[in-house]
Amino acid sequence: MTDPTPSTVPDVSPQAWAGVHRGPLRIGEWVRLTDQKGRRHNFELVAGKRFFSNRGHIEHDDLIGREEGFSITSSVGGEYLVFRPLLSEFVVSMPRGAAVVYPKDAAQIVAMADIFPGAKVVEAGVGSGALTCSLLRAVGPYGNVISWERREEFADVARKNVTQFFGGQHPAWDLRLGDLQEALPASGERVDRVILDMLAPWECVDAVADALLPGGIVVAYVATTTQLSRFVETVRAHGGFTEPQPWESLVRDWHVEGLAVRPGHKMIGHTAFLVTARRMAPGETAPRKKRRPAPGAYGVDYTGPRPADIPPVVLEEKFDS
Ligand SMILES: C[S@@+](CC[C@H](N)C(=O)[O-])C[C@H]1O[C@@H](n2cnc3c(N)ncnc32)[C@H](O)[C@@H]1O
Repeated sequence: MTDPTPSTVPDVSPQAWAGVHRGPLRIGEWVRLTDQKGRRHNFELVAGKRFFSNRGHIEHDDLIGREEGFSITSSVGGEYLVFRPLLSEFVVSMPRGAAVVYPKDAAQIVAMADIFPGAKVVEAGVGSGALTCSLLRAVGPYGNVISWERREEFADVARKNVTQFFGGQHPAWDLRLGDLQEALPASGERVDRVILDMLAPWECVDAVADALLPGGIVVAYVATTTQLSRFVETVRAHGGFTEPQPWESLVRDWHVEGLAVRPGHKMIGHTAFLVTARRMAPGETAPRKKRRPAPGAYGVDYTGPRPADIPPVVLEEKFDS
């Protein structure tokens, strides 16, 4: 089996693969202005253009050429803080084709899928390219992120967003048009990680199993409990993966001011569920859990995929008695 890590080292400057720019603000870069109430405005710097808000206007030319991290006063006295947007700020403000993976979940994916420098990663679909930016950051210039998207208009949005963030073509990025279920087997790719953010990830389990190297990790990002159940059961029924691990992450801001130290009033209640599983070596199956399924778990009302050792008829008899 061939090692998927490229042996040639691309000669590229860190700016092309980190998405972090230093020095004075330049034409074509994005800036993020924050007013005194915490309202944020993100826009591209264009020579001769004006930024308008309900607090007057600011000339782009007054921002271009300055080092980020300053405050500026608008035409009617509004004060704004000026920085380049961080990756986590850019992805929630960039133009969207499809819903994006939020930064809290992108961080979980990078950590729990163990995305490493030099990794070869497949993701589908690319949507607006938010997760792509985090994956590219994590694999670095010597890795490879292959992003499949079946809708051309979304691929176009993602291309613009990712290129805008990195300030050019990222050397590790390979954006491809196609449906993962057919395109991945046809490509013959062997990869370290596969990240699925799509409506029906269970349809891709066979394709993912064939593409993942032994020990490789699949991650699915799904919005609903029904999707979560179908994906987990399909992975279990496949047999060539370890027991799927489902979870979600909840993040709560805190208000800290003198003696008023309490959780924030608002939080994002739900984004999506995550599931990971590891690919076994060819022909190997993971030992089944010793624990019996909860009563009724695979009873007469359950119609989804079943693990091979739980035949429907036996269970129906058991739960009927
Ligand atoms: C929620 S969006 C992905 C968002 C993206 N991860 C981001 O962070 O911006 C889901 C995308 O998956 C695409 N999609 C769904 N099924 C697919 C498949 N089988 N192969 C390729 N793309 C697919 C859809 O067209 C859509 O653009």
